[in-house]
Amino acid sequence: MEIIKEIELMQGLSEKWRRDGDIICLVATMGFLHQGHIELLRVGRENGDRLIMSIFVNPIQFGPQEDYKRYPRDAEGDLDKARSCGVDAVFMPTVEEMYPDGFQSTVRVEEITEYLCGRSRPGHFAGVTTVVAKLFNITRPHLAIFGEKDYQQLIVIKRMVRDLSMDIEIIEVPTVREKDGLAISSRNSYLTPEERSSALSLKKGLDLAKAMVAEGEKDPAEIKDAVRELILSHPSTEIDYIAICDPEELTDIGIIDRPSLFALAVRVGKARLIDNVIVREN
Ligand code: PAF
Repeated sequence: MEIIKEIELMQGLSEKWRRDGDIICLVATMGFLHQGHIELLRVGRENGDRLIMSIFVNPIQFGPQEDYKRYPRDAEGDLDKARSCGVDAVFMPTVEEMYPDGFQSTVRVEEITEYLCGRSRPGHFAGVTTVVAKLFNITRPHLAIFGEKDYQQLIVIKRMVRDLSMDIEIIEVPTVREKDGLAISSRNSYLTPEERSSALSLKKGLDLAKAMVAEGEKDPAEIKDAVRELILSHPSTEIDYIAICDPEELTDIGIIDRPSLFALAVRVGKARLIDNVIVREN
């Protein structure tokens, strides 16, 4: 497995693989790999001849009050996991390599970044699309794998790829969950044992919304109220948003008369957790 820190070397290797006729697949990560990432790598390995994983905790997608500094990191553990998942190259640049002095460009997707997480994390998605566009230019993939757990991120990246005519296929991977339903996330590591029990309220909220819609409830307000009540009955929870919206445009919907995205963000202790599901009538 190649471990590459310089942009030029990564571009050179990808170019060589392209000339050899290999299909290149990218899994972009911020490291601290968990089962969710392992699943992305598994799908990547299945779909590409060459699998590249990037590890880069991207400072420009964190707000000033967010957890950039304390975001969990484990480079050695990540490299071991990458090896056992059959990764061909790990691209792990420094911040200076990615954003040298004088860096002043941004890739921004407009409307769909204003809703859901965009409301409480201004600038977050511009940070994500800027780094992902850069990673695409550096690793030159044919395919890139993203998880449905970060649903808005996935939709925003797909929109960027479409709008900017990037010749890259985005493959979506369903959310990986713990046995009890908690969506696997690096930020789960911030939870105390008590908070972890409260964090289960997100999945319970999704299940409740799903059941209500399946049974014929069409009013988003009714569903949001029921889920809010359920979540707040768990200690240490603070709701950032509960939304029912169009799965592509992410705009709120007035009546549930088609498959809709049910998404939520909840602070549990120090962790801000997100989860989502598509709800539809039976
Ligand atoms: O999902 C993540 O881990 C990050 O947002 C990504 C896509 C690697 C960009 O920094």
